Amino acid sequence: MKNILITGGTGFIGSHTCISLLEDGYDITIIDSLINSSKKVLEGLRDILELTNNFDENKIHFYEGDIRNTSFLQDVFLDSKKKKKTIDCVIHFAGLKAVRESKSNPLLYWDVNVKGSINLLNIMQENDCRTILFSSSATVYGDIENLPFKESSLINPSNTYGYTKAAVENILKNIFDADSSKWRVGSLRYFNPIGSHPSGLIGENSRGKPENIFPYICQVASGIKDKLYIFGNDWPTFDGTCYRDYIHVVDLAEVHKITLKYLLERDSANLTLNVGKGKPFSVLELIKTFERVNNIKINYEFSSRRDGDIAISFADTSKIYNLLKWKPLKSLEDMCKDGWNWQKTCV
Ligand code: NAD
Ligand code: UD1
Repeated sequence: MKNILITGGTGFIGSHTCISLLEDGYDITIIDSLINSSKKVLEGLRDILELTNNFDENKIHFYEGDIRNTSFLQDVFLDSKKKKKTIDCVIHFAGLKAVRESKSNPLLYWDVNVKGSINLLNIMQENDCRTILFSSSATVYGDIENLPFKESSLINPSNTYGYTKAAVENILKNIFDADSSKWRVGSLRYFNPIGSHPSGLIGENSRGKPENIFPYICQVASGIKDKLYIFGNDWPTFDGTCYRDYIHVVDLAEVHKITLKYLLERDSANLTLNVGKGKPFSVLELIKTFERVNNIKINYEFSSRRDGDIAISFADTSKIYNLLKWKPLKSLEDMCKDGWNWQKTCV
């Protein structure tokens, strides 16, 4: 079975993808600096697999380290080879994702997200490993008048984080064009991943002050925060709040496995795919659904619009459906129920 290197594998989306791959029998090698996750996630992975008697400690390898450190990356590739677990391909999640921080500390974001990716690609090439699936974001899109966003829509990010994602997509395109017979590259543009594994054993790290809506709702639900501020009720939408394309993280994890399989079955590939449900919900609809399925009241207040926000964002999902015959299975209700199930354990 293939051994897959997962950078950022103890993070939110990475950990769910690890489960999806391990359930199908893949070997995984995780690299993570633990800047936004912890080793406890590895226990969560073990506990989930033990629920179905699927845990095999020889199938999970963990290396703590930073993707900006090339000698560390080289050691991971060499050590894996020595253990007869040569790395066959990479899913690259590791990176920083806070939009506000990216604006105040742009060099850090270019360093981690772009230089870190270049390091990884260099070491992959040196080790003759040329299959990579990259975590991109819907934030790369710029033409907010023409919705839904298609993969061919204008790329024009509005913040540093978005620029770094678009830059790595371009680097992948360049290395593919330079040697298309050797590389298999894919970029997945995620819309709004929320929720958690239904076991409640892994989920999103909600330490500190979350910027995204779902962990914030959970912090209000658990009493860590007393109020959610809704950024604007004067948007040109049905109820005046913004619409987003929420997708369950378990569906998102599954799509990594399916896309990787697609890449591995080809001699050469260069793919960019939207990953969303293609159906947006408003902030108020999200809150009401959360309240209904979890039987909890969310205290909220309307405040002014957030700089850089757009009224509506959702994916055209026809490309991923036509290519992979994949559709997300889980509902907004599932996202709210499972997400809260995990957050309750973090209090
Ligand atoms: P996360 O912060 O939970 O996971 C990222 C992981 O990468 C963390 O475990 C962190 O410790 C690790 N990491 C960060 N910098 C590192 C470095 N220099 N070296 C090694 N490890 C490092 O985030 P996530 O939500 O799981 O996101 C995963 C990827 O998906 C990121 O690249 C993010 O930009 C992208 N993405 C996320 C969302 C979202 O809403 N969560 C949306 C679009 C794209
Ligand atoms: C944000 C980022 C985007 C990034 C994405 C996923 C901005 C401008 N955009 O997108 O680059 O790819 O997260 O990480 O930061 N909201 C509130 N109150 C809150 C938090 C959010 O009302 O406390 C609203 C927002 O205005 C938005 C919706 O909830 O309308 C969703 O917000 P969020 O979860 O931050 O996602 P995006 O805005 O899609």
